[in-house]
Amino acid sequence: MTREEILTHKIKLNNGVLMPQFGLGTYLMNKQDEAYQAVLVALENGYRHIDTAQYYKNETEIGRALKDFLAKHPEVKRADIFITSKIWNDDHEYEKAKQAFSEILKRLDVEYLDLCLVHWPTKNRYQCWKFLEEAYQAGKVRAIGVSNFKVHHLEDFLKQVKIKPMVNQIETHPGFNQLDVVEFCQKNDIVVTSWRTMMGGKTDEIPLLVDLAKKYQTSTTQIALKWAWQLNEIIIPKSVTPKRIIDNPNIGSFTLTEEEITAINNLPQKRIGADPDDKSVWKNLID
Ligand SMILES: NC(=O)c1ccc[n+]([C@@H]2O[C@H](COP(=O)([O-])OP(=O)(O)OC[C@H]3O[C@@H](n4cnc5c(N)ncnc54)[C@H](OP(=O)(O)O)[C@@H]3O)[C@@H](O)[C@H]2O)c1
Repeated sequence: MTREEILTHKIKLNNGVLMPQFGLGTYLMNKQDEAYQAVLVALENGYRHIDTAQYYKNETEIGRALKDFLAKHPEVKRADIFITSKIWNDDHEYEKAKQAFSEILKRLDVEYLDLCLVHWPTKNRYQCWKFLEEAYQAGKVRAIGVSNFKVHHLEDFLKQVKIKPMVNQIETHPGFNQLDVVEFCQKNDIVVTSWRTMMGGKTDEIPLLVDLAKKYQTSTTQIALKWAWQLNEIIIPKSVTPKRIIDNPNIGSFTLTEEEITAINNLPQKRIGADPDDKSVWKNLID
């Protein structure tokens, strides 16, 4: 695949909406105009999918970059760009979710979102979901989903909700693949988005990835990205470094063999981020 094919390849969600499989992550982009610059570089270099969240405190900057980019490129329309945001855990009660969503639209300065997620499975997740179902039915968001849901959260959710989530965004990388969740989602027609796919830039610490990078004359970050891509996960590598933003989508020139995918799947496993069920982290926010 060419770089352009990587950047334009789309996965069909269970409601028919097409979601670009490659996008820009924007967590920890909130110093000065970091997010503005990074999003502009990404859009200028063919990215058409941006992942943000209320929690990242950069939606205003991202909205500004989007507006400036579209003004400069009349051939590109708002509809050509896929924007995801997420409702933060403190705002999962119904009225708060409603307010938070309207503020997200205002900050991004957009009429609608392409995807909105329940950021973590809090005890109020069903109230947040009820609001998102209504926003979806009112046409304010083209797809709705969840994030950091494990199999037990999804099993309960699927029994209770009217509209099935289209996406589950979870931590997946060679050091923590969550294949149980990935398989459950794929069986239930829920697309998985991978977060921290590049292990926060620490993939060089895994010898197998170093060997594969040598073999394919690429970097360990790109081996990790291609591994998730080949598992049909959506990938959203984050970078504020223009050279990396431009280089990260160059994963089309090689294909990992089935044996290599299996070897990566069999690496020792350890979470980097928080466990959604960890009471010591989430305290009274979870059941
Ligand atoms: N749903 C959730 O709860 C959740 C949680 C975490 C993240 N996310 C989403 O997932 C996205 C990706 O995850 P992440 O940002 O945590 O981690 P990541 O994308 O795995 O890693 C980002 C880090 O890798 C560095 N990096 C970027 N390209 C590189 C390259 N080619 N070589 C070496 N290092 C490189 C970046 O540095 P520079 O920026 O300095 O270049 C940054 O420090 C986030 O940005 C966010 O949108 C969602």
